[in-house]
Amino acid sequence: MTTKEKVLQALELNRGISISGQELAEQLQVSRAAIWKTIEELRKEGYVINAMTNKGYSLDSETDVLSVQGILPHLKNHDAQGIFVYKTLESTNQTAKKMALEGASHGTVVLSEEQTKGKGRLGRSFFSPASSGIYMSLILKPNFDVTKSVLITTAASVAVCRAMEKVLGIQGEIKWVNDIYVGGKKVCGILTEAVTHFETGQIEYLVLGIGINVSTPEEDFPSEIKGVASSLLGSRQEATHLKEKSRLSGISRNQLAAAVINEMMAIYEEMDARKFMAEYRSRSMILGREIRVIPSGTVDISEALARSPVAEAIDIDENGGLVVRYEDGRKDTLSSGEISIRLA
Ligand code: BTN
Repeated sequence: MTTKEKVLQALELNRGISISGQELAEQLQVSRAAIWKTIEELRKEGYVINAMTNKGYSLDSETDVLSVQGILPHLKNHDAQGIFVYKTLESTNQTAKKMALEGASHGTVVLSEEQTKGKGRLGRSFFSPASSGIYMSLILKPNFDVTKSVLITTAASVAVCRAMEKVLGIQGEIKWVNDIYVGGKKVCGILTEAVTHFETGQIEYLVLGIGINVSTPEEDFPSEIKGVASSLLGSRQEATHLKEKSRLSGISRNQLAAAVINEMMAIYEEMDARKFMAEYRSRSMILGREIRVIPSGTVDISEALARSPVAEAIDIDENGGLVVRYEDGRKDTLSSGEISIRLA
């Protein structure tokens, strides 16, 4: 670890509590001048560090910069070797896939403060502005039959909901298969991609990409998603209360990111038992409701909506398929790759 990383780690571990320059210098075996210089560097990177005479430095609870050192104190069973935080990337999924091919191990996590080409499902893009979201990809080496790998997205939806609830007290609803909604608007999307062996075509790794809009103001979303997308702290109803709560308790994106990783790794260990499926169903916002199904690749969505028959979403099966019943009584099981749905 560099001196800067060590200072940041000490500050993150003691968020809101002052540590003297002398103490830091002794702990890290560097001069007080080196500590001062490092504090200045961190301030330039956006860390709000308070300095109090006779007390020392403390990381302000409002500081919200993603970092390995900020995530680590909240992680269970993970080491720093496996977490990579970037200022900007085209797409964390793209970088994670490259890292997987170069030998990165199971559980490696890639995060970025912003994405310039964030990817969504069905070839769409994912709006990923700087410093207001969590854009992260987990590299997973499946220890199960890959036909179950579609369930990774399902499991991840439950993991994100659990993390949101534990850290912020926000209840998310899942729109099959990969979207998380709060207050009727999308706050999180999930995209799982497979890395296959060049010659055998076997799935070697899965890259689980999770994008959470944390504090993006609603008005900043591009026009095509304005009105349907929101963020955890950016929706007008929740904002004041939650912003105050997260400010007072020093909740940061690091903490939420760590909680998502913890919940996901815990669910992953139980993939075989599929215990999370019951919770997935109970958090579903579409079960029991009428929906319209749109084939992927549809260009004219409104025309497709007008033509597609109304169906009732009646179940989500053990493989994550959506069981629907059409008005003529016919039943069908839909798989996520082929379609997207709209509430009728
Ligand atoms: C969707 O809503 O269609 C899925 C969005 C997935 C976005 C995440 S952000 C982190 C990871 N990197 C990407 O390029 N995409 C995923």
